[in-house]
Amino acid sequence: MCGIVGYVGYREAQPILLESLQRLEYRGYDSCGIATLNDSLTMSKDVGRVVDFAKNSPKIHGKAGIGHTRWATHGTVTSANAHPHLDCTGNIAVVHNGVIENFQKLRDDLTKEGHRFNSDTDTEVIAHLIEKYYQGDLKEAVSKALTEVTGTYAVVVLAKGHKDLVVARQESPLVIGVGDKENFVASDVAASLDYTDRTIYLEDGDIGIVSPDSITITNNGQTVKREEQIVPWSVEDAQKAGYEHFMLKEIHEQPKAIENTLRAQIPFIKPLTILGAESEKRLEDIMLIACGTSYHAGLIGEYVIGKLCRVPTRVKIASEFDPNCIALEKTWVLGISQSGETTDTLRALKHANSRGCPTIGITNVQGSSITRITEQVIFTQSGPEIGVAATKTFIAQLTALYSLALKMAQLDVKAQESYQTEFKTLPSKVQQILDNEEQIAEYGRQLAKCDNAFFVGRGISYPVAMEGALKLKEISYIHAEAYAAGEIKHGPFALLRSNTPIIAIAPRDNTYDAMLTSIKEIKARGPQVIALAQEDDEEIQQFVDIVIRIPKVDPLFSPFLNTVAMQLLAYYAAKERGCAIDLPVNLAKSVTVP
Ligand code: F6R
Repeated sequence: MCGIVGYVGYREAQPILLESLQRLEYRGYDSCGIATLNDSLTMSKDVGRVVDFAKNSPKIHGKAGIGHTRWATHGTVTSANAHPHLDCTGNIAVVHNGVIENFQKLRDDLTKEGHRFNSDTDTEVIAHLIEKYYQGDLKEAVSKALTEVTGTYAVVVLAKGHKDLVVARQESPLVIGVGDKENFVASDVAASLDYTDRTIYLEDGDIGIVSPDSITITNNGQTVKREEQIVPWSVEDAQKAGYEHFMLKEIHEQPKAIENTLRAQIPFIKPLTILGAESEKRLEDIMLIACGTSYHAGLIGEYVIGKLCRVPTRVKIASEFDPNCIALEKTWVLGISQSGETTDTLRALKHANSRGCPTIGITNVQGSSITRITEQVIFTQSGPEIGVAATKTFIAQLTALYSLALKMAQLDVKAQESYQTEFKTLPSKVQQILDNEEQIAEYGRQLAKCDNAFFVGRGISYPVAMEGALKLKEISYIHAEAYAAGEIKHGPFALLRSNTPIIAIAPRDNTYDAMLTSIKEIKARGPQVIALAQEDDEEIQQFVDIVIRIPKVDPLFSPFLNTVAMQLLAYYAAKERGCAIDLPVNLAKSVTVP
């Protein structure tokens, strides 16, 4: 949502802060700023991208500093609303990620007490509250200020006269990168990978003092020890490696993401026979909870778990989760979140916990919040995903969900082996699609000319169509909608025109004949139809304008391959339209506000 960074050590802070902010830009990118401490605080901030800010901002000195890249929530995109925010004296600077829910009341009270505000943000109240309570002990003042605040925050504070940073976390991610005679603070580990792979993940309620050679953390007034962990990602993982965009690189990393996630074990998942005996009362149904692309993975997971395990399975958009729809301890609740920080998903999981449901998280990020609030965690092994649009993390989520379903299913040895064999062919089949990139790119460039598009699918391909439409709209800004192919005649037909392309996902499964019928009905109304069809499908080409050939695979696994083809379509449509592919307008990678 926003990215925050901090540095204390023996080097000039500004270049480190700017470098780190560029790594976090995917979290927010409408404005940015930094403050450093020499004898006094110096601040520099502006609207626009970090890369431009880094080129144009004046040199400021100091070996301690904080920085922020913003994605506006309270207040429009202006330089005044960019962080850091200062108190009235100009001696206390704050960067913040999260939402202060009672900020208006706090602001009114502080204004009555004589504080003057320079921005429309919720964050600025924190700086003024710290000023109000400051009597020489910065940590004490931060601590008192935060007791007045309700909402979510990751906060880093820099103040004149203090060589340390004070940090605090409540429901918004904050990590400390541990260095040698220097330490780093950031919203996520990607920011300081250039400098260290040693990380401490702060927990809710933690308040810490970070100095060049020590880190002290308290929670509820007690000193606590947070274990240092080694980040499993390298600097190279977080670089473009010669690709024009992170998204393209990440699309190309998908064979590896499947292989690596497949290799990871899920020891706590047992076949249903054993589960039934061990915990008869504990599994009546499964509920998957997620947002956006992860929700689409959940919809595919629902289909696969339902088919292989025959356990009633439901999917809920996390923000629509209603705790009353779970049967207490009998519902297993699975939260899917690549970032592990999506507030809506975390809140739904907390509700599930409070109702006694066993909870499992599927995430790509070690140390993320979801890992702390779920009983068990399945880590997808995609490496860091920097492009705002989820690609390889989605494919890895599918890999985890299919692995989980296969592990739970009571299949005979032959069926189990046959699925496992098919599963293992996926990386090379995804690679075949990537090898056909140029042809798909050409269709993507054609798609760039339209203003509206429909994606249609049936059965397991309906959520795949939803993911295709989401990818296209979020990076190319082409209006795209997904429909269950059988539904499109119930209203959306009114929108079909010759310049409204339809992308039809047509694997050779039990929905194929019905899909051909839908395609013929659509075609009769004029639109161009692009079909994603199996490589040996001779029949479909007579009914459509373009066929994108997909390697032959058991239809149950077709979502992996069709998704990759659609990601490429979206990518090349967006590129043709000159869009900022890795940083789409108004979007942020990690949505840490409700
Ligand atoms: C779209 C996209 C978003 C996320 C959604 C949930 O490409 O990335 O729709 O899927 O914001 O994010 P996570 O998975 O981090 O919970």
